[in-house]
Amino acid sequence: SRPLQTTSAPSTRIPDFGFAFDIDGVLLRSSDPLPTAHRALSYLQSHSIPFILLTNGGGKHESDRVRDLSQKLDIPLTTSMFIQSHTPFADMHAYKSKTILVLGGDEDKCRLVAEDYGFGTVVTPGDILVAYPDIWPFSHHLLDGYYRRFARPLPAPIDPHNPSKSLKIDAIFVFNDPRDWGLDTQIVKDVLLSHAGILGTLSPRNGDPNLPNKGYQRDSQPPLFFSNPDLLWAAKYHLPRLGQGGFRAALEGVWAAVTGGERNGVELKKTVLGKPHRPTYEFAEKILIAHRRELVQRAGANPDELGPLKRVYMVGDNPESDILGGNSFESGHGTDWVSVLVETGVYTKGTEPAHRPSKIVEDVGAAVEWAVAENE
Ligand code: G3P
Ligand code: MG
Repeated sequence: SRPLQTTSAPSTRIPDFGFAFDIDGVLLRSSDPLPTAHRALSYLQSHSIPFILLTNGGGKHESDRVRDLSQKLDIPLTTSMFIQSHTPFADMHAYKSKTILVLGGDEDKCRLVAEDYGFGTVVTPGDILVAYPDIWPFSHHLLDGYYRRFARPLPAPIDPHNPSKSLKIDAIFVFNDPRDWGLDTQIVKDVLLSHAGILGTLSPRNGDPNLPNKGYQRDSQPPLFFSNPDLLWAAKYHLPRLGQGGFRAALEGVWAAVTGGERNGVELKKTVLGKPHRPTYEFAEKILIAHRRELVQRAGANPDELGPLKRVYMVGDNPESDILGGNSFESGHGTDWVSVLVETGVYTKGTEPAHRPSKIVEDVGAAVEWAVAENE
């Protein structure tokens, strides 16, 4: 196979193909760069071949994550070529003036991201536990050493006898993988079974598991948004780990049990964003097209004279998110998305992937070599 040699003089011709790279299992394993990641991205940059990073991960602001990635991969990256799981939440302006519950991530880093996005009143399960330790008796051991370090006072008390003054959650956003599934599940259940998101209340019709399914007032439930569907992901451990999709599966089990059990349980009403879902790929294509124009401008050429982006290689490690998404995305720009599966992450070499990619390769270096050779 051809070695990825970077030429000395960067090319100014911007090709009509580009890449979308998944991160975990393709470029990194947790914080460790994979062996061919630097060489692959460096080759693309020296040949002005456009690429973006498209991850179901998150937990930090885009600018912080890009700074980390640039340093780890030793590749200059910008936020204009980076999309993470909760990036689309920044555009959900309808909730910016509301009170939202934010789940996931280390300490309250995701609260800080939500506030950077413009959300005005952000509550975390840790805030609620510190204010009302009895709301979840099984995380008291984490209060002093963890939660109390970053919790903030609640914007309102939990006072079921005075609902109009009580803490009301208008929407729940899962920004990243919850660290305390027990506490987060309990708080989400309390919000979803409350009357209109007023914590401490129990909506009479939602609260009675003996009611028939139709007894659940959909209108009073605050919306629940997940940013990442991944049941499994490739961390540092040699076997895939449970991701945000694992938390959602556990929550769905609790929700079915508390709303009526096996026979009468109600399906959890939620919105799930992230790969493989169409809105994420639409957003990614828009970002890649804009980034390609930016490369042309930087090369001193006129982006309006640029031909269309004809092909995008979606390089990923998870058949359920990267390959399924790359295979099923129908571009509105006539761009052909080609999925490439690497053997350095969730997918196990030699097995039949749940969704067939256009190509299976050893690693991201081999993916770039194959794709570039296709376009010579
Ligand atoms: O939490 C991150 C995990 O779900 C996978 O991320 O980069 O493989 O899409 P990524
Ligand atoms: Mg991955």
